[in-house]
Amino acid sequence: MKSNSCKEPFATIAPYYDKLMSFVNYPSWVIYIEKIIQLSSVKEKFLLDLACGTGVCLELWSKNGYSVIGLDKSLPMLEVCHEKLAGQDDVLLINGNMQSFKLGRQVPVITCLYDSLNYLLTEAELLSCFRRVHDALRADGVFVFDMNTIHSLRDEWGNNSFQRRDEDLFSVWTNTYNPVQDISSLNITLHIRRNGEEIILKEFHQERGYRLSVVEALLGEAGFTYSLYRHLTFTPATENDLRIMGVARK
Ligand SMILES: C[S@@+](CC[C@H](N)C(=O)[O-])C[C@H]1O[C@@H](n2cnc3c(N)ncnc32)[C@H](O)[C@@H]1O
Repeated sequence: MKSNSCKEPFATIAPYYDKLMSFVNYPSWVIYIEKIIQLSSVKEKFLLDLACGTGVCLELWSKNGYSVIGLDKSLPMLEVCHEKLAGQDDVLLINGNMQSFKLGRQVPVITCLYDSLNYLLTEAELLSCFRRVHDALRADGVFVFDMNTIHSLRDEWGNNSFQRRDEDLFSVWTNTYNPVQDISSLNITLHIRRNGEEIILKEFHQERGYRLSVVEALLGEAGFTYSLYRHLTFTPATENDLRIMGVARK
């Protein structure tokens, strides 16, 4: 048995990420966001996906005729993304930090999906990201994002351990919730069988939950008008939702 432990989130699990997330209905997320785009005055099919990861959504957008830019700070995730989108036109991938990126141009649609904003662990980091998004968004543009709520990290993930089997991949997800910081610490252990041998890979992640009033205050401070909804609906978000969607305009 071989074992490898890694502290850098996504460095180890990148090649397995898509398999681990195979239960996520990304196409329904893209359909929902397209509705939001259609309700805005944006006509151009051009989008920046922050924290694009392995590019599952980028691929869907690209197939829907969008020119896309993906930005992520993890090179291993971008490598998987690069392979997936090879041969697609109008794709630009950037290795960057969503807290500090400068695009040098403005785009009509910016997305940031699947917990990515929860990886920003302080209000200052979240505000900095919102400010960078505001700079990069066209005047008529729209920023769409999701977030896990405190309820999700505290009461669902809590101090629980979950086991999953995704095809040949067995994984254990062990959470510890810090109620003072609203931070969930997550140890992910992957058990992989390769050439008859078991390989164990470990990675450490942290996600922070933010009160909805804090998200709203930071969006306002960055210059946005906004609505927060229960995930994939147009029902106003509450602290009892597990995941929320934010729709922000300049
Ligand atoms: C849970 S994954 C989501 C990936 C993708 N958005 C999806 O929907 O599958 C979180 C992603 O956020 C990226 N990330 C975390 N913090 C970041 C930061 N400060 N700047 C850019 N990317 C970041 C990670 O590298 C990872 O790819």
